[in-house]
Amino acid sequence: MPKPMFITLEGSEGVGKTSNMQYIQSLLEAKSIDYIVTREPGGTALGEALRTILLGEDFKGMADDTELLLMFAARAEHVAQVIRPALKKGQWVLCDRFTDATYAYQGGGRGLDMGRIAGLEQWVLGDLRPDLTLLLDAPVEVGRERAGKRSAPDRFEQEQVAFFERVRESYLALARQQPERIKVIDASQALPDVQKQIATFLNEIIP
Ligand code: TMP
Repeated sequence: MPKPMFITLEGSEGVGKTSNMQYIQSLLEAKSIDYIVTREPGGTALGEALRTILLGEDFKGMADDTELLLMFAARAEHVAQVIRPALKKGQWVLCDRFTDATYAYQGGGRGLDMGRIAGLEQWVLGDLRPDLTLLLDAPVEVGRERAGKRSAPDRFEQEQVAFFERVRESYLALARQQPERIKVIDASQALPDVQKQIATFLNEIIP
């Protein structure tokens, strides 16, 4: 059995994650690949409950460290209950956000120490890392313009432009550090052109 792939999709607000997730699924289905699709924070009952706490209004003023630890608590559950079992069964895993989002949002956005995040990553994930990460990148104004047209902003979407500039910069820095794994997609282009870029990278790993 060929090794099942663990693919993650990342990007700041309004870069088109949802429509591109659907496109990636259609590519996997066209090749009859057995896969699951999941998301973070979330992907398990406990993780979705933590997502409600993290994104909602009830605990708006939580400490940055609390936010970081809740992200990793959700991730620990997700990895143990969903991601590792799926990969073990030979299923590909397509995940909407993963640990790179923690480096970008809690590290870049909130300014938490990257070394601490790396320590938690090592603890919670061991040697598990995505095989391929597609980073949808667009200037912050483009993403905010698109995201602004949607429903009420969540706890992260309420952040200021400077926060999202740091998120974007951190994502791009990760991509520079790990060019083999993280592929930057120019998401400011029209959707068909974005999809073409995605297909190129996926075809490199689809058997
Ligand atoms: P979204 O996946 O629907 O875009 O929303 C999830 C939000 O949570 C998004 O604003 C990014 C944020 N987030 C973090 O801050 N850290 C993380 O580790 C993850 C997975 C998401």
